[in-house]
Amino acid sequence: MSDHIDHLLTETRRFAPPQELRGASATSDELYDRAKQDRLGFWAEQARELQWETPFTEVLDWQPPHAKWFHDGTLNVAVNCLDRHVDAGNGDRVAFHWEGEPGDRRTLTYADMTAEVKRLANVLEGLGVRAGDRVAIYLPMLPEAIAAMLACARIGAVHTAVFGGFSPSNLRGRIDDAGATLVITTDGAWRKGKVFPLKPTVDEALREPGHGVRNVLVVKRGENEIDWDDSRDTWYHEAMAAAPAEHVAQAFPAEHPLFILYTSGTTGRPKGILHTSAGYLTQTSFTHRHVFDLKPESDVYWCTADIGWVTGHSYIVYGPMANGTTQVMHEGTFDTPTPERPWQIIERYGVTTFYTAPTAIRTFMKLGRQHTQSSDLSSLRVLGTVGEPINPEAWVWYREVIGGGTTPVVDTWWQTETGAIMISALAAVTTLKPGSAQVPIPGIEVDVLDDSGQPVADGDGGLLVATEPWPSMLRGIWGDEERYRETYWEKFGDKYFAGDGARKDEDGEIWLLGRVDDVMNVSGHRLSTAEIESSLVAHDGVAEAAVVGATDATTGQAVVAFVILKQSASRDHTIEEAEQILREHVAKDIGAIARPRQVFIVPDLPKTRSGKIMRRLLRDLAEGRALGDTTTLADQGVVDAIQQQFRGA
Ligand code: WTA
Repeated sequence: MSDHIDHLLTETRRFAPPQELRGASATSDELYDRAKQDRLGFWAEQARELQWETPFTEVLDWQPPHAKWFHDGTLNVAVNCLDRHVDAGNGDRVAFHWEGEPGDRRTLTYADMTAEVKRLANVLEGLGVRAGDRVAIYLPMLPEAIAAMLACARIGAVHTAVFGGFSPSNLRGRIDDAGATLVITTDGAWRKGKVFPLKPTVDEALREPGHGVRNVLVVKRGENEIDWDDSRDTWYHEAMAAAPAEHVAQAFPAEHPLFILYTSGTTGRPKGILHTSAGYLTQTSFTHRHVFDLKPESDVYWCTADIGWVTGHSYIVYGPMANGTTQVMHEGTFDTPTPERPWQIIERYGVTTFYTAPTAIRTFMKLGRQHTQSSDLSSLRVLGTVGEPINPEAWVWYREVIGGGTTPVVDTWWQTETGAIMISALAAVTTLKPGSAQVPIPGIEVDVLDDSGQPVADGDGGLLVATEPWPSMLRGIWGDEERYRETYWEKFGDKYFAGDGARKDEDGEIWLLGRVDDVMNVSGHRLSTAEIESSLVAHDGVAEAAVVGATDATTGQAVVAFVILKQSASRDHTIEEAEQILREHVAKDIGAIARPRQVFIVPDLPKTRSGKIMRRLLRDLAEGRALGDTTTLADQGVVDAIQQQFRGA
């Protein structure tokens, strides 16, 4: 991380927006003024872009740390994302150009998606799902995943999407915490040239009794062999064929829960972040329009996130669909069958707007620009990134090689908790600084504070906070009010503590410096050190474990574990075997994304005299750096022994 920060601090290049964008979106500039004059009035105007059943009369009710936005209004989120566009005469507009990994394709218009969601709403109701019930969605990038989310929204059920790479125990943990009664999954889906089974993971997750799941709805995709439980399992296509086509949507209050999405925190247990309806939809659609300078009639937008993460929720499903956007959706990985794949897709559909993660950009860089050159990328006019700080080199490469040296690159900072983009350039307006997320979007107030809660001076670093509530903010942690208060509001009172370090530059613009807590960011995915540590110590052979996020040139950070084995385990296995066994153990227990890059078997762990593991020193060791301050170390011999071992390796 420190190299990366040094680069950020010396970056001085600037890129003005292209003239043609500026002219077209002059109004974006005025949004800042409007929001400054009357912040709540500004958000009310944005909210009125949605279709309301009952208009709201109050904008914000703020009882820190609880906000209600537009709360006496009612609307239906799915109607806003679907029926509204059909009613406006845009039913023939393509909603999704879907590309399966083996090369099969589907085109779904807004009319098609609306029809699918109406039927599915009937299916869900037929299976006994009612407003407020929770539905777990364990699906990869299939159009049915989008339909599943919107069908829940249509009937007021609360979805909780679980990333398809998560293990049975992780899926079960989320099902139980949310109290889900239905799971929607698939037999399997394509990934890296093979069918990756998902239904068996659901079966495994539900094997032990004690859960509340009554039905499992299964999308047929992989055509792989799966077990079937007649009392519980239903094929999606069969249920859809039997369901009525019409479905009358009912409006729900603005603050009706929309979804729960689990994310890693500083303790071992993931937090169920709760989002509600109208405020969330207002800010996701507003930011999607203005950050990306959206032209819904002509743009083809491709966000490469998985719908199991918040970026998929906010910038594939809700924001873009509320805006009637035409999108590309892709199953599988970018390097299958060849590394030309993403660029061929951009050429095929004339993608104008591409939104991806720094880790993907660094992977493209590593593979080399030759892969991009056989495709025509001239349709691209706006590029975006999200998920972790982007190093200026990757930013400039992205603009030059993918963007032909002319496209703006917007670096968007936000979190599962914030629901929508908070800090970002606006493509048509802002003069860009590579590596900086720059300025809060209109209507958002953030600051960088020192530990005592005072704003830092321009040029200094500190902790990032949101100083005012915002429409798409989390409404709580599912079932855990105490943790909600403690995590986000204890530190600075009624200011939201994001958990990120940041620096204000001489212009007062914001540069993100990474997490300040024990959360790692691996390929843009949040992982908790505590969660991986508890997985490691749950293994029979492990006496103690410490996990750190070490800087990695491609994935941003990588999981590195230091493990003390029990005597028996040291006897039965070589060190290499033990390391391999433990890497696989974590991958199986949590999911492949959590598999440590390295496991080091060590005789002891460096601790302070009060017994706290000194992760800072472990990070230094993992990154091959000279050790920082060791004065609080209880026993210098411990790090000497580890260093010895590192030199030996
Ligand atoms: C990090 C993803 C720097 C940050 C939308 C945050 C970023 C965490 C950026 C949230 C960015 C996200 N620049 N860091 N543009 N975007 N982050 O909840 O540390 O998966 O706290 O949401 O990712 O990750 P989450």
